[in-house]
Amino acid sequence: MKDTVQPLLEEYKIGNLQLKNRVVMASLTRGRATNPGLVPTPLMASYYAQRASAGLILSEGTWLSPKAIGFINVPGIFTQEQIDGWKLVTKAVHDKGGLIFSQLGHIGSASHPDFLNGALPAGPSAINPQTRSFTPEGFKDTLTPRELTVAEIKQTIQDYKQAAKNAKEAGFDGVEVHAQAGMLIPQFLSLATNQRNDMYGGSIENRARIVFEILDAITEIWDSTRVAIKFAPVALSHVGIMTPDKETVPMFQYILKKLSDYNLAYLHIAGPAEDLSGTPVEVLQNNYFSHFRQHYKGRLMANLGFTQESGNAILREGTADLVSFGEPFIANPDLVTRFKYNLPLSEGNRDTYYSGEENGYTDYPEAVYDVVQ
Ligand SMILES: Cc1cc2nc3c(=O)[nH]c(=O)nc-3n(C[C@H](O)[C@H](O)[C@H](O)COP(=O)(O)O)c2cc1C
Repeated sequence: MKDTVQPLLEEYKIGNLQLKNRVVMASLTRGRATNPGLVPTPLMASYYAQRASAGLILSEGTWLSPKAIGFINVPGIFTQEQIDGWKLVTKAVHDKGGLIFSQLGHIGSASHPDFLNGALPAGPSAINPQTRSFTPEGFKDTLTPRELTVAEIKQTIQDYKQAAKNAKEAGFDGVEVHAQAGMLIPQFLSLATNQRNDMYGGSIENRARIVFEILDAITEIWDSTRVAIKFAPVALSHVGIMTPDKETVPMFQYILKKLSDYNLAYLHIAGPAEDLSGTPVEVLQNNYFSHFRQHYKGRLMANLGFTQESGNAILREGTADLVSFGEPFIANPDLVTRFKYNLPLSEGNRDTYYSGEENGYTDYPEAVYDVVQ
């Protein structure tokens, strides 16, 4: 039976962008740029086009410069070939009436010399993040990186700006800065990985400075309503030593207050995947999204573990404006239709999440159903 009262299915406006619904496809690294130039392929265009009924698609995390690389077969957006490859993707999505933002990523110290012609990765401080890098030879432990000079930090900010420009040329509708746990930006935010004593280290203001310098640079290229940022403030697993610390809560309060003046497309927050009791962010256990809602005055996108039911609920209660879905989009290209007609969801095959060409990528069928009016 058709359900017309689902908030997830309502239209939503961001500046002059009209979203068909409030179901967003979250970024999913799928490792299908299997060519030396890390160029998006026609297969990737088909994959994204299959998912164009989402209100907005966020591209997989995409390298903004050669120094940003740190995971196998992930595409970039820093060469003309890559920009031209992305044009195929954005056109395919637009032809199906969809919208797509480019997610700009830099992995910083969590990279590996195998991706950097043998050079050491660089990060805020010479501290091993103690994670693992998925290299062409399999998973390898991260090493002690080099500390970025201030000039290199300034250059990195320019690299974000250039990638944002390239995303515009490639036909994207906007950009999302990838500041999810483990990436370069959270490496600056974390007390464990940032022990600098210059303007980018020490106080909360200094450690967060790079966030605003990146956004200031990107908003010179894009209207602020086409720029977003994604954080996972409380990630505990797979992030090595970059786990939440005693300053995480005040750090995000500071960031959110300042971001409230940016009029961004949205602030994207991934929720906790684990119980927070006994951690330095325990206070967020029972009021996670409402805490961020309270401290941020703009549009909020909620993520992690949402279902049709919980997604509708968080929108209905007004704690978020948009909900993004990651894993559910892998095996359900028609996720919006499945929500609309209350159809069951398919399970994705984890063996093909990060590799497999079309297998486990573009071969998930749409649901077969009869519409009962
Ligand atoms: C296969 C896979 C790849 C992912 N790649 C990215 C990525 O490139 N960028 C990002 O911000 N998050 C990435 N994520 C996290 C998702 O965007 C999302 O935050 C997470 O899956 C939680 O949402 P869900 O419970 O709806 O799946 C990835 C998740 C999965 C399962």
